[in-house]
Amino acid sequence: MAFSGRLITFEGIDGSGKSTQLQLLARLLGTAGYDVLTTREPGGTQLGKRIRAALLDGEHDSVDPLAELLLYAADRAQHIRQLVRPALQSGRIVLSDRFFDATVAYQGYGRGFQLDLVHQLNRLATEGLTPDLTLVYDLEVAAGLGRIRDRQTGSSVEQPDRLDREPLEFHQRVRDGYHALIAADPHRFRVISAAGSIDEVFERTCREVSTVISLTGSI
Ligand SMILES: Nc1ncnc2c1ncn2[C@@H]1O[C@H](COP(=O)(O)OP(=O)(O)OP(=O)(O)O)[C@@H](O)[C@H]1O
Ligand SMILES: [Mg+2]
Repeated sequence: MAFSGRLITFEGIDGSGKSTQLQLLARLLGTAGYDVLTTREPGGTQLGKRIRAALLDGEHDSVDPLAELLLYAADRAQHIRQLVRPALQSGRIVLSDRFFDATVAYQGYGRGFQLDLVHQLNRLATEGLTPDLTLVYDLEVAAGLGRIRDRQTGSSVEQPDRLDREPLEFHQRVRDGYHALIAADPHRFRVISAAGSIDEVFERTCREVSTVISLTGSI
């Protein structure tokens, strides 16, 4: 089904700068007069917030990998049906901090679930909804984890989440997974080097986004 809005998703390893870039883009698009919805997975809805807490709280050490996979799918189904589709149908631009590709990268490549199973669950949860553009922020794993450490040092409230504590090899498999996704669908995915300053990365973000949305107004 065709929607009048646009869906742009932000992907990449932990600490690559997704949330920072998403916020900058939302501000720019808002200034250009677009009606923008910013959201995230997991946790875009009220139910999703509870699922997010169950998934990522540092206290839950033993979330079974299959339970984890299904909780992400449940969060996604609620997110898309309750929030994303209606927003797109009313012509809004939706910026989502992670989306279904993250489950392919983390649960498929990272945890080792069969990719067929992950894709099948994604199809079930999304009911065929695909982003117009997916930006993948690419960075050395150690650099991403280093940024997260710095972010935690600078914030008294932020605790490391369950995934931040995974070994380096896990994050490397996730990064490799994103590379495989990009190679399989170069039309939807754009890889953005996340190295360099926030402003430099934002210039790259704008360059890619301007291929689907005019940054000076009107789609
Ligand atoms: N280009 C950059 N150079 C240096 N620091 C950056 C850059 N981009 C973001 N940061 C900082 O790195 C930290 C991680 O950035 P951010 O939270 O945007 O990443 P993320 O990909 O959303 O992480 P997560 O996967 O944990 O959600 C933040 O403290 C942010 O201010
Ligand atoms: Mg983030």
